[in-house]
Amino acid sequence: MRIEQRVVVVTGASRGIGAALARELRKHGARLVLTARNEEALRQVGAADDVLVAGDITEAATRRRILDEALNRFGRVDLLVNNAGVGHYRSSLGAESEEIRALWELNFFAPLELARLAVPQMLRQERLPDAGEAGMVVNVASIAGKVTLPWFSMYSASKFALCSWTEGLRMECWSQGIRTLAVCPGYVRTDFQSNALSGTPPVLSAASKERFAITPEACAKAVCRGIQRNKRTVVTPLSSWALVAAARLLPGIVQHRLARINGTA
Ligand SMILES: NC(=O)c1ccc[n+]([C@@H]2O[C@H](COP(=O)([O-])OP(=O)(O)OC[C@H]3O[C@@H](n4cnc5c(N)ncnc54)[C@H](OP(=O)(O)O)[C@@H]3O)[C@@H](O)[C@H]2O)c1
Repeated sequence: MRIEQRVVVVTGASRGIGAALARELRKHGARLVLTARNEEALRQVGAADDVLVAGDITEAATRRRILDEALNRFGRVDLLVNNAGVGHYRSSLGAESEEIRALWELNFFAPLELARLAVPQMLRQERLPDAGEAGMVVNVASIAGKVTLPWFSMYSASKFALCSWTEGLRMECWSQGIRTLAVCPGYVRTDFQSNALSGTPPVLSAASKERFAITPEACAKAVCRGIQRNKRTVVTPLSSWALVAAARLLPGIVQHRLARINGTA
């Protein structure tokens, strides 16, 4: 899908991957609607022509406001980038139920509900003259949405669900011209780990992840390439596909190794 002149909603745009994505999409000529809770941080990322919407996307009123403000300013929405998300380094049995539900509200239900507002709008509006498709939904999942990581298995489960729904939505809307893309980054150098709802990752995994770490800018470039090439999945860095393949081909060995890293085998 072309990015130039498209109206793109980016959630979690106040820092990290979302802020880098906003900058990269702007370079490609997108018209931006940026959203996150921290209004001041959002202003630092936004440019004069961007629409900025401060609010918590787990609230229905915020989600409605994002779409309304996009339509008021630009009259259309072409791309929804569901990027906002949070980590959670606690075990399934050790975490409080409320915390697990809060994780799912942000990582799964907010993207779903935003798409349920944005996709009907994409289908209602007239296609741009150079458009081959009606619109696109990009869901920023994680490598943990392809391989279950035991130090945040609740987070993994939410990202697996996000990946699965990304595929489901694509197949549901196949003939209507809605594209979907699941983005599965490995470790990206942001404050994601310190912003987790609770808990900390095992020390060993932090060291080994750092070896393969990429910058948010590199991640944003990979996402934009994926959008332009109508990809179904972007795994970044590419070397992470090796872990995905190993987990598919040798699940017992990989799971035992991951449980050892987690200190539970
Ligand atoms: N960093 C990594 O290693 C990594 C790896 C794989 C996948 N990911 C995924 O990439 C995405 C971005 O992560 P990141 O590394 O950029 O993390 P981050 O630096 O912690 O950024 C998270 C973003 O989400 C926003 N956000 C959090 N809760 C929100 C809420 N309730 N309502 C609205 N916005 C909210 C934050 O802004 P406010 O606080 O201003 O609301 C912030 O802009 C996430 O979905 C994450 O799961 C990250």
